[in-house]
Amino acid sequence: MVHGAAEIATPAGCAARSGRALGEIQVLRAAAVAVRDGRIAAVGPEAELRARFEPERELDARGGTVVPGFVDAHTHPVFDGTREDEFELRTRGASYLEIAAAGGGILSSVRGLRAASEEQLLARLRVRLDRFLEHGTTTIEAKSGYGLTTADELKSLRVLAAAAARHPVEIAATFLGAHDVPAEHRDDPARYVDLVEREMLPAVASAGLAEACDVFVEAHTFGLEASRRILARAQQLGFTLRLHADQLSLLGGARLAAEFGARSADHLEFVDDAGAEALAAAGVTAVLCPLVPLYLRQEREAPARRLVERGVPVALSTDFNPGSCYLQSLPQVLAWAALRYRFTAAEALTAATLNAAASLGRAHRLGSIEAGKEADLVVLDVPNHLHLVYELGRNAVRAVVKGGRVVLEREPAAPILGARGPGGSNGAGVR
Ligand code: NIG
Ligand code: FE
Repeated sequence: MVHGAAEIATPAGCAARSGRALGEIQVLRAAAVAVRDGRIAAVGPEAELRARFEPERELDARGGTVVPGFVDAHTHPVFDGTREDEFELRTRGASYLEIAAAGGGILSSVRGLRAASEEQLLARLRVRLDRFLEHGTTTIEAKSGYGLTTADELKSLRVLAAAAARHPVEIAATFLGAHDVPAEHRDDPARYVDLVEREMLPAVASAGLAEACDVFVEAHTFGLEASRRILARAQQLGFTLRLHADQLSLLGGARLAAEFGARSADHLEFVDDAGAEALAAAGVTAVLCPLVPLYLRQEREAPARRLVERGVPVALSTDFNPGSCYLQSLPQVLAWAALRYRFTAAEALTAATLNAAASLGRAHRLGSIEAGKEADLVVLDVPNHLHLVYELGRNAVRAVVKGGRVVLEREPAAPILGARGPGGSNGAGVR
């Protein structure tokens, strides 16, 4: 039993929420969660649950806030070296595309990944999974895409499978062989599209190492026709689809995602109204990455509020990767979504839990704190869910439960700062 929460805050249901429903969450005060066999048995007033259950083990939330485990719907966590030199170049005025055109960017991570052994990559990934967990993330979508040969893509996906087997963070693996055209195919990019279509996709499918296929749809990587070929073949082989769409230009990636009934269209900084309408009509989730334009010093941001108003289900993600966003904390992303997109705390919470889970086909078992769902919970050292976006920069995660198991527990900071009533300050106070 998880008890002693000042608040349990959660979206409800087994499907993505959009429009006004995005911000409609349930907030239970003085409540508890009963967990049995890895699943949530009941949620409700603590006294009521105490009358019904005799817990074998208790986790005291100590006046904190309990939310569903965060779900990060877009990450690129399999790589070797980091790219802080490129960050510095951008500080001095270079652009992401200029750096890529000069052989840096994705291709620099490709060189690193090809040179690294499976063991090396696994060791690095494990550390990164620990970090996700420390920030309250219990499930990630994770892409390959720094190998760009059949062998190196399979190597990346095997690393994901090996890590998933031994780490509490759940991984939804995505094949992203169409991340960029590798150096050895730059003279004839069509040859690389053939390779993805005819060799990589069937190999990944028969190895059973990925559930989804992603394409970086952009003029300098994979145009609409090349993307269509790859997506059609992937769909034929049974992959669900996710797209890097309209991130750096308005090429029509969102409309392509709608055309194929993709699970998600991601980034969308340049999406137009027609693209947004297509996404809404096709029920494609927009996975937004609000820190990426900041990190790339790109002015254009996704029209997040307009997407919500048009009825597109919206999820939030870090886009964790070594180039365009070296960040693993979803709480930071939530705060940024509030500051830049004017998402309320409740909207941001839904986007990073239930809607993200829905985009991964997991909303029936993850993404909310409701009886019957798997017990993925985060105990935060904050007095209410508004602190999710109000408080910047502190990791307030005190405990994490994945599948009913306490997988992380830290010493509490007592008392919880900002708590109303004894032990904390009121709304006007500062401590
Ligand atoms: O999501 N857009 C393409 N892929 C990544 C960047 C990857 C990289 O720069 O290594 C992204 O931003
Ligand atoms: Fe990405």
